[in-house]
Amino acid sequence: MEIINVVGARPNFMKIAPLMEAFGRHASINAVLVHTGQHYDERMSDLFFRQLGIPEPDINLDVGSASHAVQTAEIMKSFEPVVLERRPDAVLVVGDVNSTIACGLVAVKLGVRLIHVEAGLRSGDRTMPEEINRILTDAISDYLFCTEAGGVENLGREGVPDEKIFLVGNVMIDTLLANKAKADASKILDELSLTDGDYAVLTLHRPANVDDPDVLGRILDALEVIQRDLPIIFPIHPRTRGNLTGSLLARRVEDMPGLRLIDPVGYLDFLKLTSSARLVLTDSGGIQEETTILKVPCITLRENTERPITAEVGSNQIVGTDPEKILQAWRRIMAGEGRTPQIPPLWDGHAAERIVSILSERL
Ligand code: UD1
Ligand code: UDP
Repeated sequence: MEIINVVGARPNFMKIAPLMEAFGRHASINAVLVHTGQHYDERMSDLFFRQLGIPEPDINLDVGSASHAVQTAEIMKSFEPVVLERRPDAVLVVGDVNSTIACGLVAVKLGVRLIHVEAGLRSGDRTMPEEINRILTDAISDYLFCTEAGGVENLGREGVPDEKIFLVGNVMIDTLLANKAKADASKILDELSLTDGDYAVLTLHRPANVDDPDVLGRILDALEVIQRDLPIIFPIHPRTRGNLTGSLLARRVEDMPGLRLIDPVGYLDFLKLTSSARLVLTDSGGIQEETTILKVPCITLRENTERPITAEVGSNQIVGTDPEKILQAWRRIMAGEGRTPQIPPLWDGHAAERIVSILSERL
């Protein structure tokens, strides 16, 4: 039995790593890996393959960056001949990026069963490109694997039959737990002259936050205050770097000595940075989940989340981009206020095994 597994962008690599490993333990399954090339910088792609022991992709479609329509179409055009030639038994896609929906559409139109890992998440915000990718991918999938109970409920509400839906836990957390000891040995704190527990980590890349100078400016208003008290390490995403370069906001950033921009870092260094941080400020999806497991306070710079469990039981506060709200959340954390976070059910490091065992029985 052959399953084509698709990756394209940074958060896909953490999700596919434990699945490729679990497939490798099933002699009857041939897991083929296709990289669409949506992300291609060394620090957005290859570094993760090496650090997470992901096999070299069997096929790289090398699509690169473009507008949504062009990127999605290019991925579809390049992926279709791969599916036609290999005639796999199924195609597996993860997450909510353009590569996910593009390859999913190609598979189902060729009559190949589609597996979606991280199904059912909904932010309720259709201006978010990922929300469209999530809704469409789930609507055409045959096997939908959910990370949290809310995802199962969302799918039920959208009319997905129960027998297609499986609550299995979180493959991203499989990767975190498998790599925590290695990450603990990272020297990144020394390299950046940081003291354990005495700095914040920031990531920002959502178009709604970083493509609009007014919104980014408001976030900077809050960061300006925080960085006076607590150094902020900011591994900057290429989209955000591109927007800042040469802009008026770049000058404001230069005037904040406590806000330290660095290139994106590898998974192990990033895990070390987040796990030792006093708090994390982010608009990332995956980082809301990782901070939940690490029990590190997380301030999410968005008005909503598709991962509500991280706020219900975890350490996550969804505050949006109003500087006053960001600062209130920051002050609460610095004052040690808040409840003790819990680990969501099934986020135990065995999600990929569950997925592969269900697939090997049913496919
Ligand atoms: C994509 C995903 C988003 C995910 C994020 C993870 C979609 C619609 N968006 O957003 O869901 O959270 O990845 O990081 O799929 N660039 C580089 N080098 C790279 C990759 C990108 O310089 O290796 C630059 C290019 O200028 C590109 C821009 O970043 O135009 C945006 O890249 P793109 O993949 O289109 O979207 P992301 O913002 O990365
Ligand atoms: N990450 C990383 N280095 C960085 C920033 C993030 O390794 O400099 C990891 C992070 O630990 C998580 C994933 O990238 O596993 C999240 O990806 P991203 O925020 O790009 O995408 P999202 O989850 O928002 O789709």
